[in-house]
Amino acid sequence: MSQILVLGGAGYIGSHMVDKLITDGYDVIVVDNLVNGHRASVPADVPFYEINIGDKTALDKIFVENQIDAVVHFAAFIEVAESMADPMKYFSNNTTNMTALLEIMRDHDVKKIVFSSSAAVYGVPERIPIKENDPKNPINPYGLSKLQMEQQMHWADVAYGIKGVAFRYFNVAGAKADGSIGEDHHPETHLIPIVLQAAAGQREMVEMFGDDYNTPDGFNVRDYVHVLDVVDAHVLALDYLAEKNQSNTFNLGSATGFSVKQIVEAAREVTGINIKAKVSPRRPGDPDTLIADALAAREILGWRPKYDNIHEIIKTAWAWKQKNPNGYEK
Ligand code: UFG
Repeated sequence: MSQILVLGGAGYIGSHMVDKLITDGYDVIVVDNLVNGHRASVPADVPFYEINIGDKTALDKIFVENQIDAVVHFAAFIEVAESMADPMKYFSNNTTNMTALLEIMRDHDVKKIVFSSSAAVYGVPERIPIKENDPKNPINPYGLSKLQMEQQMHWADVAYGIKGVAFRYFNVAGAKADGSIGEDHHPETHLIPIVLQAAAGQREMVEMFGDDYNTPDGFNVRDYVHVLDVVDAHVLALDYLAEKNQSNTFNLGSATGFSVKQIVEAAREVTGINIKAKVSPRRPGDPDTLIADALAAREILGWRPKYDNIHEIIKTAWAWKQKNPNGYEK
């Protein structure tokens, strides 16, 4: 039986993807170097290779030993600020490793890839909501590395016929509703888990970065999309590649924007805790507003996001937090 290789399958989004694929009856293999991923986020009986995807020999061996039909690629570094401080870390782990991966796929005649790109490829958008064909002018090495990865996929399609779907994620949030898997980054930089750390008494307060943005309440606005909806889109992309044998790129967002202040307020309502927050200076490189036009994913893939309510999204993240106050660390 053919298999789906999930790179970065022990990370936040990857682990939800592995869970979904197993539930849907796919045969799954996971690769993760556990630098940011957690072994405990993947069931013990799923074939697991703890290797670095930059280790071409080790990665090639996995393709020799298995019957891989498609690759789902989540294995990249994702922190904007870190990429500004250490850009080469991003070009080597993200961009260069994509080259090696596509070469191995070509050599083993594996013709399908689904890839986690980012809204960061757009830089400061010229209009809201952002459409896939809008200008791509990344303003940090992280966004550029993701754009370069997309571009390599394009040329691998032209030359070798490797078909790919790239998803440009907006702000992925939430967790599996039973709280068994969830988001656990060290250090945590994302807004919703930070707000919930404050709710759980693990930090004194939330710092809201900047109240002088060009938005209705002055706080910057992001488009939050539930991790299970993101994962659903990936499964639809596997079907799309199998049926249409065509490459494509899609935004994944809810098409609704919430300001930092609105997120803190929604989290107060969900948790019933008066989460303390204060206004802090702006974080460098944050655009005023990022909202997706995600119509293409709906129309072409038939994507139907189930979570259209920010309270419901935060509720699932809170369930994970309450069940696992320290994440995967016991
Ligand atoms: N924020 C705060 N306080 C915090 C943390 C975040 O006010 O303690 C604000 C940020 O300034 C931003 C919003 O909350 O306005 C969301 O910030 P996140 O760090 O949660 O997410 P980003 O929008 O910065 O980044 C996300 C992904 C990136 C991706 C980017 C593209 O995490 O990988 O979206 O849109 F590049």
